[in-house]
Amino acid sequence: MTILVTGATGAVGRHLVATLLERGADVRALTRKPEDAALPDGVEVVAGDLADASTLGPEVFGGVDRVFVFPAHGVEAFVDAAVAAGVHRFTVLSSLAAAREFPRDNGSASQLHHSAVEAAVTERTDAWTILRPGTFANNLLSWSWQIRSGAPIRAPYLASAQAPIHEYDVAEAAAETLLTDDHLGEVIAMTGPEAITRGGQVAAIAGALDRDVPLIEITPEEFRAETEQFIPEPVMKMLLDYWSDTLTTPDQPRPVTPVTGRPGRSLAQWATDHQADFMG
Ligand SMILES: NC(=O)c1ccc[n+]([C@@H]2O[C@H](COP(=O)([O-])OP(=O)(O)OC[C@H]3O[C@@H](n4cnc5c(N)ncnc54)[C@H](OP(=O)(O)O)[C@@H]3O)[C@@H](O)[C@H]2O)c1
Repeated sequence: MTILVTGATGAVGRHLVATLLERGADVRALTRKPEDAALPDGVEVVAGDLADASTLGPEVFGGVDRVFVFPAHGVEAFVDAAVAAGVHRFTVLSSLAAAREFPRDNGSASQLHHSAVEAAVTERTDAWTILRPGTFANNLLSWSWQIRSGAPIRAPYLASAQAPIHEYDVAEAAAETLLTDDHLGEVIAMTGPEAITRGGQVAAIAGALDRDVPLIEITPEEFRAETEQFIPEPVMKMLLDYWSDTLTTPDQPRPVTPVTGRPGRSLAQWATDHQADFMG
């Protein structure tokens, strides 16, 4: 039984590939650029674009029983091809935004995209598991430039509290759903193990680096003015709404433990694992 991992060169996908290999699975990895994939020995790397059916032939799906679906735009092409090729099981990377638990989620960039990705799978097959992680700890890599250069981080809503999830925990949950039959038909919400203020998140990174990280609280209006040339408006709105809401209603942690059998990694652990990203 071969498991096809899409998004295999990404943060979640790389750890998923490594976890599946460790657990003895036959793994095939899809990427648009096999020459740059740098995946471990033992993985069969194939070229393909999730959004381009002409690239998704027998070399992609031959012998494949289960797939991990990365939520690329246009992924319907991939799901169509996978179903036609006889793939039996789909684990889908979605987002907690698709649960629409809060008014801010309705119509947000993430909700619209991930709801469409989920529908692309659930409208074509019954054999799915959907993973809905909340905010990724990797989003904090957006501070890496300031931290590397010693410039202060300038950020709003420092007292708002989120529960960022380590990409390894998402990957290990995905592996579990692909290797067992225990989660078929489940929609699984997952976050990091605790809600931490944005100020505390900076402190976790500073702790891993064993040095001070200067931090200045700015207003949402200042943040918008300073970053709008880099952040598209739908994403800007989503971020500001999320941070504003979590000032008064911190993220409620959704442990990965029931799926992975172990507690989710702390933000301090994530920061330690990513020290190199923050060092000059
Ligand atoms: N950030 C958050 O807070 C958050 C929360 C919940 C869910 N999510 C979801 O998680 C995703 C990020 O996961 P990640 O961090 O593992 O991703 P990542 O590190 O950004 O990597 C993106 C991966 O997607 C692959 N890819 C993109 N478009 C493709 C296409 N058309 N065909 C084939 N492969 C394609 C890339 O492969 P190649 O370049 O090698 O082809 C790469 O492996 C987000 O996009 C979002 O959907 C994010």
